[in-house]
Amino acid sequence: MFRHRSFLIVYASKLGHTRRIAVWIARELERAGPAAEVVEVGGDLPRDVREYSIVIAVSSVHFDRPSRPMVRWLEKHRSALQRVPYEIVSVSLTAAAETTEARHVVERYSRPLAAAAGTEPVLCEHVAGALQYTRYNVFTKTMVRRVARDRGLPTDVRSDVDLTDWAQLQRFAARSIELVDALPVTVGVGR
Ligand SMILES: Cc1cc2nc3c(=O)[nH]c(=O)nc-3n(C[C@H](O)[C@H](O)[C@H](O)COP(=O)(O)O)c2cc1C
Repeated sequence: MFRHRSFLIVYASKLGHTRRIAVWIARELERAGPAAEVVEVGGDLPRDVREYSIVIAVSSVHFDRPSRPMVRWLEKHRSALQRVPYEIVSVSLTAAAETTEARHVVERYSRPLAAAAGTEPVLCEHVAGALQYTRYNVFTKTMVRRVARDRGLPTDVRSDVDLTDWAQLQRFAARSIELVDALPVTVGVGR
């Protein structure tokens, strides 16, 4: 049954930072009243997508692309997402770089997600992720360090760095609450 003021948060995360962001957003939304259920992409959904007020797709970027399982998930639920508003949170290192070029790059990162959904998100947030050097293998460490250097970010591989702007996510959650509050109270799945 449709639940007014409810969020489904679907996340795709490789090393756990995006999962942390998804759970954090859920707690922030719930503090303000709405229900927020968090599911890993590909996991069982607690209820039909159309029973939620808003869906939030939270995906990290690897090798210049959003998560492939997330793209597939959005394609699979494309018809439901014509009716249920959805939001994108795209997590990358590039989002930490405050240049015009970086802004263009992060917009490119989220485009396959919106294309897969077949409709535009009501909100699209580009959020800085984390440098997790101590958890990378030699190849990944070298590759990510190169990305970090190009973006003017920390390159000391002896320590991890959380680059996420949690105040930005707080503003995102507040905006999501405004959006959910503006939706009509619809009863029944067949909307
Ligand atoms: C193998 C690998 C490739 C990455 N490629 C990119 C990239 O192309 N562009 C970018 O901005 N960030 C890139 N990142 C940074 C991740 O998006 C960032 O570390 C994010 O926090 C990872 O989230 P996760 O732990 O949920 O997977 C990459 C990270 C790794 C480990």
